[in-house]
Amino acid sequence: MVKESEAITDDVAELVTSAHRVAVLTGAGISAESGVPTFREAQTGLWERFSAEDLATVEAFENDPALVWTWYRWRQSLIQAVEPNPGHAALADWQARLRARQGELSIITQNVDDLHERAGAEVLGHLHGSIFTHRCVDCAEPAELPAPQYNGFEPPAESEHPPPCAVCGHGVLRPNVVWFAEMLPAEAFEDASAAIRSADLVLVVGTSGIVQPAASLPLLAMERRTPLVEVNPEPTELTEVMDYSLRGPSGTLLAQMVQASR
Ligand code: APR
Repeated sequence: MVKESEAITDDVAELVTSAHRVAVLTGAGISAESGVPTFREAQTGLWERFSAEDLATVEAFENDPALVWTWYRWRQSLIQAVEPNPGHAALADWQARLRARQGELSIITQNVDDLHERAGAEVLGHLHGSIFTHRCVDCAEPAELPAPQYNGFEPPAESEHPPPCAVCGHGVLRPNVVWFAEMLPAEAFEDASAAIRSADLVLVVGTSGIVQPAASLPLLAMERRTPLVEVNPEPTELTEVMDYSLRGPSGTLLAQMVQASR
């Protein structure tokens, strides 16, 4: 039975203090306090009639490449314009301190942003790719692009077409992210599974737990009876498999956990 609370309890503090190998699965919620909208929030501007789920598919890109391309380029500029928040900083700090004691804190993220890295953490796996890299839809060659020139806080008035591939000449570029129904990068998923299997504490932070197969990863911990702690202001699809569900923003709660780990 999951135990819910709005602040860390003595039980959770004890788990945190004794954990030597921690695995953390993060989702859009950890970046929300930096100002990056989550996937289930309403869209604005060119995209106000669309949900994020409508835009993050191969079909959406094929139907309207400019609409989808511009959405990703604009989100890229938004991510570049914001800063990591105390939740990212807490995980980076905890990772550094566990490593100093020959332990490990493995960060597995569904986020395509780089806010964990900019907070100073190493990320074991970006399960859904990166918004900063691009590849050709036909030949799959990676392509380097200059940073987008959008104001990340104001959606643009017009969309732009994805550029052609400079290598094969017939495909266009797409963001190197994993869209719904696409395969996850196999190595990242295997590394994530291994980290969760070998962890003595697993945290699930800021994810709705709706999107598979990432949402199945915490079940690997459940099978092994590894303690599972969720950090999320709302109940999620994963709440019922948790041992503890901490109901609040990750910036505050992760900072409390790291304080307890000292
Ligand atoms: N702290 C922690 N969690 C938060 C915060 C916060 N400050 N604010 C919101 N949340 C929670 C929400 O309650 C929600 O459960 O973050 C979660 C965000 O859920 P989603 O938007 O569904 O994001 P995520 O679970 O990462 O989505 C998975 O779906 O569209 C795809 O590939 C995309 O990686 C994404 C995947």
